[in-house]
Amino acid sequence: MARRKLVAGNWKMNKTPSEAVALIEELKPLVKSDDVDVVFCVPAIDIPAAVEAVKGTNIAIGGENMYFEDKGAYTGEVSADMLLDAGAKYVIIGHSERREYFAETDITVNKKVLKAFEKGLRPIICCGESLEQREQGITIDWIRQQIKIAFLNVTADQAKRAVIAYEPIWAIGTGKTATSDQAEEVCGAIRACIRELYGEAVADQIIIQYGGSVNAGNAAELFAKSDIDGGLVGGASLKADFGKIVNYK
Ligand code: PGA
Repeated sequence: MARRKLVAGNWKMNKTPSEAVALIEELKPLVKSDDVDVVFCVPAIDIPAAVEAVKGTNIAIGGENMYFEDKGAYTGEVSADMLLDAGAKYVIIGHSERREYFAETDITVNKKVLKAFEKGLRPIICCGESLEQREQGITIDWIRQQIKIAFLNVTADQAKRAVIAYEPIWAIGTGKTATSDQAEEVCGAIRACIRELYGEAVADQIIIQYGGSVNAGNAAELFAKSDIDGGLVGGASLKADFGKIVNYK
């Protein structure tokens, strides 16, 4: 089955609401595409302005994180309902920066994934190994464990709407992209893991992205691989280059 590519920008902690609108106005004409789905994952405070700014375009807006409880005494957190009500359709869950700086674990990732699906947000679930783990030769074991925990109690109907982003930690923000063969090997292993968990139909449908120093120069080779369905793009999503990544062909 031919899967549509999905290219998502991860703005991280960049751009105020007014700066977000200016960047979206700049990128709008550059990211037009008939066959690639485009998402901008932006800081929570930027979402209402971003949703307004992308009206009538092919761009969807996503959050970069959410909490797994519905509401309550969780100072500073953002709920799935808040993201949805503001107009977000996607949410990044378990980015390695959240795991490293904000104590996210595979268990909290799973709780957030379940909540996102319950509410109707499409999660972009991140996984990835450290350089040490790659050198130890445990990359595939590690990723399979992350995926299995992230998908605990997720139904097949939900899983087929999931997006998985394979992001080797050593490639994020470092300019060191995984080679297309390295990326394809792990994305293929993730699809095989999903096949074991949910069967062929879900494995065929699920979107698996590569992320980590994707840029206008390497996107075409990465996205040409059969198990790589697009990318999660950090640094290059804040520049005109993002248009070239979306229109990589
Ligand atoms: P990068 O970030 O493209 O700047 O490496 C990717 C990410 O963290 O999602």
